[in-house]
Amino acid sequence: MKNNCIGIFDSGIGGATVLKEIIKLLPNENYIYYSDSKNNPYGDKSNKEIINICDNIVKYLKEERKCKIIVIACNTASAKSVEFLRNKYKDISFIAIEPAYKMVHDYSYNTTTLVMATKGTIESEKFKLLYNKYNNDKTFLCPCIGLADIIENGDKEQILKYLNDNIIEYKGKVKNVVLGCTHYPLIKNEIQEVLGKVKFFDGSPKLAIHVKEILEKKNLLSTKNKEMSIEFIDTSKEYKQKEIRFFYILGKSY
Ligand code: DGL
Repeated sequence: MKNNCIGIFDSGIGGATVLKEIIKLLPNENYIYYSDSKNNPYGDKSNKEIINICDNIVKYLKEERKCKIIVIACNTASAKSVEFLRNKYKDISFIAIEPAYKMVHDYSYNTTTLVMATKGTIESEKFKLLYNKYNNDKTFLCPCIGLADIIENGDKEQILKYLNDNIIEYKGKVKNVVLGCTHYPLIKNEIQEVLGKVKFFDGSPKLAIHVKEILEKKNLLSTKNKEMSIEFIDTSKEYKQKEIRFFYILGKSY
């Protein structure tokens, strides 16, 4: 693996949903995906803990692996650490995902909306600013404590039980669902099983466009016709299973 990679991280394999969108636009890049599943879930951790964890990941991706740009493919990590990281590491760009609540405002204003995200994201100052700016008074906020962890483990029955216990009350009440955690696009089918037909809002396609724009602007795009590579790193003991699921989510063997 050469230097000059795009570094991307999440508290587990959920961020693969973000990487998948980036690859569609940037198929000639080298990627290092850092799945920090040892520390999953991030959603219940304090700001200080998250900042510390993210700082160490960035040190590794930037200083040891010389990544040219870093994508924070975790809403919780973005909400709590991106300001700190941008202040500390001024010579690298951070592209950070956030719940696609502005998209609701832009494309589906005045429609009942459920924002699903971790407790950490929903309680963060960054999300509060976004919410207050675009709030249409028809929005329900649902901190889905523990859901990312259940998705990370991949047990469909447990996922359905969680959703039935925690979001069934919104059935018939909402038309839009903001997938405010990068693990949640993996359970769209299950969410529709519980809520019926809803329109999903996910920030990943927009983020991918932004990654491309930043690389172009900084003259850091990889040359065409170069073969893509993806290196998967996981911090837990189950890294082998994680790796299999990660590439399964990406949908192809790279
Ligand atoms: N994928 C992370 C996010 O977007 C999950 C957070 C967690 O580990 O709780 O928020």
